[in-house]
Amino acid sequence: MIAVSEFKPGLEGVPATLSSISCVDGQQGILEYRGIRIEELAEKSSFLEVAYLLIWGKLPIKEELDSFKHEIQSHRRIKYRIRDMMKCFPETGHPMDALQTSAAALGLFYARRALDDPQYIRKAAVRLLAKIPTMVAAFQMMRKGNDPIQPRDDLDYSANFLYMLNEREPDPLAARIFDVCLTLHAEHTINASTFSAMVTASTLTDPYAVVASAVGTLAGPLHGGANEEVLVMLEEIGSVGNVRPYLDQLIANKAKIMGFGHRVYKVKDPRATVLQQLAEQLFEKFGRDEYYEIALELETAVEERLGHKGIYPNVDFYSGLVYRKLGIPEDLFTPVFAIARVAGWLAHWKEQLGKNRIFRPTQIYTGSHEEPYIPIERRAVSLERVRVDSLEQHLERNGK
Ligand code: CMC
Repeated sequence: MIAVSEFKPGLEGVPATLSSISCVDGQQGILEYRGIRIEELAEKSSFLEVAYLLIWGKLPIKEELDSFKHEIQSHRRIKYRIRDMMKCFPETGHPMDALQTSAAALGLFYARRALDDPQYIRKAAVRLLAKIPTMVAAFQMMRKGNDPIQPRDDLDYSANFLYMLNEREPDPLAARIFDVCLTLHAEHTINASTFSAMVTASTLTDPYAVVASAVGTLAGPLHGGANEEVLVMLEEIGSVGNVRPYLDQLIANKAKIMGFGHRVYKVKDPRATVLQQLAEQLFEKFGRDEYYEIALELETAVEERLGHKGIYPNVDFYSGLVYRKLGIPEDLFTPVFAIARVAGWLAHWKEQLGKNRIFRPTQIYTGSHEEPYIPIERRAVSLERVRVDSLEQHLERNGK
């Protein structure tokens, strides 16, 4: 029998794998991909170079990077049947649901599964990295009633995505900053969506199902969805003067402040620091954002009130302000996170396949045993049903 005391809600602190992909030091605020500090990668590498590093474990030499970029470029287009399927999605649907469905649909078109073939692994990784941005941009165009914009071969990964989204070539600084955002979001050890990807991968299903399950997990407001919620919160606060009363109310209601707190970081997330610098670069060139002052005041106020609990800005706090300045609609913030995190999911997929054992944790059963079976005619009416019945009777009596 396992003691109840052994149960760790949310599996906090329980090692789920041995991994050499990334490392977080939550006390010092350090994040490394394959041993390299995130700040250095953000400054010196492109997102595709980082994706290569994460998936294949080393920075590529020039020829390797050139051919990787070329492969990605030649797989950016999506099948017209996928495009037509996406046209049938309701335009009011959330883009994360559209992305999850479209990512899963790739499995219908690329059905061959050869998980022990390195060429297959590479092709699947290239397809997912190449097509996911195209699918996000295509849904954005189609929900506005327009045809999707075809990818442009003369633009690099990030510039091409922004082009497909807005139908105009982006400013080079904006494209570079977006690329850095992708690098910052590319990987983060065993978070909820990566764990989801690993569990799905461990069944030896296809990589499109692996990514689709991870996209579904990322969508929640406690995970990737928080970046969208941060902007909603800043809009609700409305002014610098309202920050403290708003925060008081959240704390009094024991509500979570979006974009703050982290299971691992007990100091400011290093990605939030870089994102804040990127936001400032954008504001310098394109004008300040009205919500930035509110965000700064909120960061100070939260630190004063909750700093002792280790509650500081996480990656989602400043990313929304950057994306907003880049002209990305709020409900695309999490799909953009997914575009980046595909690199990390694929790295964990590949790592999982190299040492696979299906995930099958256990539980501590808290239910009863040896219950008598009650025939249907002798079962008690549940209270829930009584309430529904009396409501129905009430409506009937009142002729409604
Ligand atoms: N606002 C106020 N209090 C908080 C917050 C917050 N954002 N986060 C944690 N706390 C408090 C919490 O109330 C609890 O206090 P007490 O011990 O007095 O009851 C304590 O800190 C521990 O919180 P927890 O909920 O047990 O922490 P967790 O590790 O289970 O949750 C988290 C981590 C990220 C889900 C949580 O901090 C949260 O909900 N944050 C807001 C949503 C958010 O910004 N999510 C993005 C996370 S980073 C990117 C990603 O993973 O996608």
